Amino acid sequence: MPSYVVTGASRGLGFEFIRQLAADPANTVIGLVRDKAAAEAKARAQGLASVHFVEAQYTDLASLKAAAETVKTITGGTLNYLINNAAYVSEVSEWKTLGDFHDNFSTLESDILTSISINTLGVIKTIEAFLPLLQAVTDGPKKAIAITSGMSDLDLINSAGIAVAAPYAISKGALNVAIAKYNALYKGEGILFMGVCPGYVSTERITQEVAEEDKAAMAAMGAGFAKFAPHFKGTILPRESVAGVLGLVHKASVENGDGGAFVSRFGNKTWF
Ligand SMILES: NC(=O)c1ccc[n+]([C@@H]2O[C@H](COP(=O)([O-])OP(=O)(O)OC[C@H]3O[C@@H](n4cnc5c(N)ncnc54)[C@H](OP(=O)(O)O)[C@@H]3O)[C@@H](O)[C@H]2O)c1
Repeated sequence: MPSYVVTGASRGLGFEFIRQLAADPANTVIGLVRDKAAAEAKARAQGLASVHFVEAQYTDLASLKAAAETVKTITGGTLNYLINNAAYVSEVSEWKTLGDFHDNFSTLESDILTSISINTLGVIKTIEAFLPLLQAVTDGPKKAIAITSGMSDLDLINSAGIAVAAPYAISKGALNVAIAKYNALYKGEGILFMGVCPGYVSTERITQEVAEEDKAAMAAMGAGFAKFAPHFKGTILPRESVAGVLGLVHKASVENGDGGAFVSRFGNKTWF
């Protein structure tokens, strides 16, 4: 009975992960959320009765360790898949460049620190808390996945000229390095660490109306994506994205040389 913990399971891709995973009654599916009552109400309303929700704050190691103890009582002490999906996507800098903060550097500094504290350190703390459960698996998969972003790919940034959203991209770039470091450390134990980009996906956050002043930056980013990948047609649906990521995650292994990779849902550098 494979077990899954998905962080940031209350909405967006996280909710889609638990929806698809719960469709197989053989899976034990646990969503890590910041507001358990709200997540439970949403899941009930959508017929996801079998999903367990556990509350945690990704910036707080003690809260994550307490969540891991709760997960142990659900799974019997082990965990097959840890999917680190939660992320802070800054509205402060999403459509701004580093140069837009010349007159307000402290705002940029605090935005970079917040992005790193959730998207990089938050994942490192989550892995720290849940690693013993992965290590306790004696027969079956043990995989720690980080949902990262092609926005941290240097070739994409340089070829497409994507200057916006630096704090987010920096935090995901640091996350990619952390995942490679975990692979170097734990591949000998057969634990797969891998960073996967889900594509450009029409979650609620992505489809919300952008401010008038940000529309030019958004159009320029779309044009940059199309220049980098001529087949780029815009966003894909959450169900397509998550089906692709899960297909890759199930197939990937340390033995196949996937450990420490930073790849798209196709298993390569095709981000769109
Ligand atoms: N959508 C895309 O096009 C796209 C592209 C590339 C990569 N990604 C990556 O895919 C993942 C999911 O993206 P998404 O579009 O589904 O994002 P989303 O709709 O904004 O959802 C983000 C999730 O992370 C949690 N979260 C947000 N801010 C947080 C914070 N400050 N502290 C703790 N948790 C926080 C949220 O939980 P709460 O409900 O508790 O706020 C939510 O469940 C992220 O890692 C993102 O970087 C997405």
